[in-house]
Amino acid sequence: STRLVALGSATILSVTGVVVIAAGPASASGGRATPGAAGLGDRLYPLLGNGGYDVQNYDLSLTYPQKDPAQQVSGDVTITAVATQNLSRFDLDFGGDAVGAVTVNGKPARFTRSGDELIITPKRALPSHRKFTVRVSGFKATPIEADADSPAGFVRTPDGTIVAGQPDETHNLYPSNDHPRDKATYTIRITNPVGWTGTANGVQVSSREKSGQVVSVYRENHPMASELIQVAVGDFITYDRGKAGGVPVRDVVPRRLAGELLPKAADEMNEIPWMQGKVGKYPFENYGTLVIDAVLGFALETQTLSLFDTWWFSLPSYVLDPVAAHELAHQWFGDSVAPWEWSDVWQNEGHATWYEYEYALETGNLENYSGYTNLTDLYKSIYARGDQLRAKYGPSAQPIKADSIWDVFNPNVYDGGAIVLFALQQKVGDAKFRQIERAWVSKYKDKSASTGDFIRLASTVSGQNLTSFLTDWLYSAKTPPMPGHPDWTV
Ligand code: ARG
Ligand code: ZN
Repeated sequence: STRLVALGSATILSVTGVVVIAAGPASASGGRATPGAAGLGDRLYPLLGNGGYDVQNYDLSLTYPQKDPAQQVSGDVTITAVATQNLSRFDLDFGGDAVGAVTVNGKPARFTRSGDELIITPKRALPSHRKFTVRVSGFKATPIEADADSPAGFVRTPDGTIVAGQPDETHNLYPSNDHPRDKATYTIRITNPVGWTGTANGVQVSSREKSGQVVSVYRENHPMASELIQVAVGDFITYDRGKAGGVPVRDVVPRRLAGELLPKAADEMNEIPWMQGKVGKYPFENYGTLVIDAVLGFALETQTLSLFDTWWFSLPSYVLDPVAAHELAHQWFGDSVAPWEWSDVWQNEGHATWYEYEYALETGNLENYSGYTNLTDLYKSIYARGDQLRAKYGPSAQPIKADSIWDVFNPNVYDGGAIVLFALQQKVGDAKFRQIERAWVSKYKDKSASTGDFIRLASTVSGQNLTSFLTDWLYSAKTPPMPGHPDWTV
């Protein structure tokens, strides 16, 4: 099919994916070409992401030459983006070992590195609104050993390597616009020795053997935040569970631990239809569980394939299953609807915690949470710590600092975010609250959305102006009164 797309002043002729740009001088779009900003100005991570362009697709190839979890990997990435200003130069985020070469629109481009910024100067300025491609080839990255001090990153385990990118580690593996505001589709091509397995987000497109190596291609067709990438390569096996609630489910676990781990992951088959009953259709093409033998101290909602460490799998099912439901809930809240900036992460964690508690209650496991038998009592206990949590970590939508990931992924974002939702439910009633939840994941599906977007949507759906109510709950230093529970004290 051939279609003409008008993008600002530029006209693009697209014939089955081949894009021919009717090129003109940079001045055609008006204004001088200037450098794109080194960061998106995120309050917590100012240099994360970059200004001046919007990525549409990553075509990422990674090569793991040996069966060695500690090895350096090499890669090439072709990024398709649209300029959002006349660009004289622009940055990618990259913290890996080395960069081989860079081309822009097929022509060699100069590059330098400064900290985690890869600064690229194309031969010709890039006109605003036009599509361009940047290819970074021969980049190299080495995995780190995960421990309590550095639990995230391009991580090595006894069985192979994985990615725990959230919030600012993904660019240690490959050059990217590493901020959840700039979601893009992905093709991920993994080359590894025969006998090892390479798995990534989304659907496997192909897998071929070629002179002792396997080349597997994965496609994630739903726009994905870079922090949610997963590339697991090692002595893993993939186990197909068939469908749950219409969703194909596959798990990835270390081969030597498969017999022990796979039965424990099976509750996901119940969690998927349960979650669909709460908020509607699962947002992606598949789901599954990835277990690694390393200590992370958290589980992570990598898109379509949630990551857990073996520590979670050493705990009883009444602990593991609600946490697994939490990671599943993130596929809607955090992944399909990504945060606009990192201060909005209460949207991810507040909602995931909400459904975790609800799942525990409805499967008879809530008592594990300090002995509570109903959610009202549980939220009352969270409410009682309200001012203390705000003082220590900042309001839910405004974490004080980001020296460690635990400053951002703090208790006032998890429990504090969940109790904002409880307050909202008390204020508008359960029926309207459930409508807000469904409207949120449907309106902002495949997008990034802000706290302001949530407040506006809640107001529209409930038919009442909730601006000052939710602003107090999300930004105030003091815990507001709880609607319907005037006797609750902080
Ligand atoms: N988002 C994860 C969860 O609560 C864990 C986050 C903490 N760790 C991190 N590297 N961001 O499910
Ligand atoms: Zn979470």
